[in-house]
Amino acid sequence: MNAMDKFCLKKKKIVITGGAQGIGLHYAMAVAGAGASVALVDLNEEKASESAKWLSREYGVKTMSVQVDVTSKEQVEEMCSAVNLELGGIDVAFCNAGISINVPAEEMTYEQWRKVLDINLTGVFLTATAAGRYMLKQGSGSIINTASMSGHVTNIPQPQVAYNASKAGVIMLTKSLAVEWANKNIRVNSISPGYIMTNLIKGHELIPTWEEMTPLKRMGRPEELEGIALYLASDASTYTTGSDFVVDGAYTCV
Ligand code: NAI
Repeated sequence: MNAMDKFCLKKKKIVITGGAQGIGLHYAMAVAGAGASVALVDLNEEKASESAKWLSREYGVKTMSVQVDVTSKEQVEEMCSAVNLELGGIDVAFCNAGISINVPAEEMTYEQWRKVLDINLTGVFLTATAAGRYMLKQGSGSIINTASMSGHVTNIPQPQVAYNASKAGVIMLTKSLAVEWANKNIRVNSISPGYIMTNLIKGHELIPTWEEMTPLKRMGRPEELEGIALYLASDASTYTTGSDFVVDGAYTCV
């Protein structure tokens, strides 16, 4: 088999949380380009629906959108059931929805802490296990969680204690699931981006500082995560599980 053939995703059914825009939408573009059917799942139904229609037109693949709050176990389970019915299975799940609330730790409210942890960490757990149950039944699957370089280092100067803790949690959750499901033919990996120019940080006054602190001296573009997303979703990565892939322009090297 030609190495390039291993990246083919025809007949694969893929669900992406936080898929309406930004990094999630670029994961979708990567896998749709390789022939996969894609479900874009997001709190923002209008945008998810718009993006799903665009994706289908652009890549000629089957797409759907589902409104879901990843912090709700019931909603996540219903979403997986709907995707399973409409696409005919779940082969790959990108657990990607995430937010940040940047306030000094001593001023952070319990509600702010809970919100970040609920979406960024519990949301990944709920999505990975709900999708994982379909994968366990069919005997195969790949789960890809979006962590962050903030799971490895404490970004400065902005205070983001909850975000950093949630992303470190995603990295360990990934490794734990990978080991639990290693003999079930389900691979679980995470991607840890550096600063990527999306709505999450667009227009932030610290962008020049972050660029200066990054050895590549610029922000990453969301399309620069497409290659790793395609690799992890595909049969090019059959021996890769429990790994975290840092894509950060060498930010964490200094
Ligand atoms: P974004 O803000 O453009 O997209 C996030 C998406 O998640 C949005 O469409 C939003 O509606 C959705 N979302 C938020 N809360 C949700 C919920 N409760 N249920 C369902 N969907 C929800 O942000 P971006 O940059 O694309 O972020 C994607 C992931 O990448 C996040 O987990 C983020 O933490 C991570 N990341 C982003 C970096 C960056 O510099 N942009 C760096 C490292 C990690």
